[in-house]
Amino acid sequence: VPGTEAGPARGPEGQGVSDAEAQKRAAGEAAAALVENGMVVGLGTGSTAVWFVKSLAARRLDITCVATSQRTADLGAELGLKIAELGQTAEIDLTVDGADEVGPGLSLIKGGGGALLREKLVWEASRRCVVIADADKRVQTLGKFPLPIEVVAFGHKTTMLRICDALGECDIGVAPRLRQKDGQPMRTDGGNLIYDAACGRIEEPAALAFALKSVTGVVDHGLFLDLADQALIGTPDGVTILE
Ligand code: 5RP
Repeated sequence: VPGTEAGPARGPEGQGVSDAEAQKRAAGEAAAALVENGMVVGLGTGSTAVWFVKSLAARRLDITCVATSQRTADLGAELGLKIAELGQTAEIDLTVDGADEVGPGLSLIKGGGGALLREKLVWEASRRCVVIADADKRVQTLGKFPLPIEVVAFGHKTTMLRICDALGECDIGVAPRLRQKDGQPMRTDGGNLIYDAACGRIEEPAALAFALKSVTGVVDHGLFLDLADQALIGTPDGVTILE
């Protein structure tokens, strides 16, 4: 889908922006401008979402927010945003979140920051979802970024073998790696573990999503298909809108 320009992205000193961080900031700020008084807003997780949260908080609107991770909830509360639990507000009007890859049809890989389960829960509960990213996140085919797969800790090595079978059904022959943090298996906010599968190319994301969800022990995966309504992509020339 060809993009349209939403005005030039500008850095703090009014300069055009070219580096990834400035592009993330431009996308985050453009998304914050979509929020209106009275809305219930889903707050994403990651370095791009941080720009959105900061820019949103600076607008001092009368809104309620639902966070996709504890760290985003902490940041939002620190910046003065009203944070509520999922299910304790009216329907979420708009969720804004980052992504690790933005592919055809706004198919996404998410979960690089380990928050994919809460992210997907919040996205699926939202009327509208906007993904924000820098230009390097756009891909023709998903899969270069390792696909995060969240599993329950009990029996996770057995679950991983069954994940290998599911990947094999989709002609992806890789062994997923257990994500580590500080020399230990990383735990998600929900206390689960994450395996990252370096798929290379995911030719049929829907088939892979189905196969992975069919494995007992898999809580969810980072394929976000048919969930994003719009993407705001920071580029050296401005923020491109994809729909
Ligand atoms: C966290 C995510 C993030 O949105 C994704 O990893 C992108 O992060 P960043 O904006 O830091 O590049 O899915 O689970």
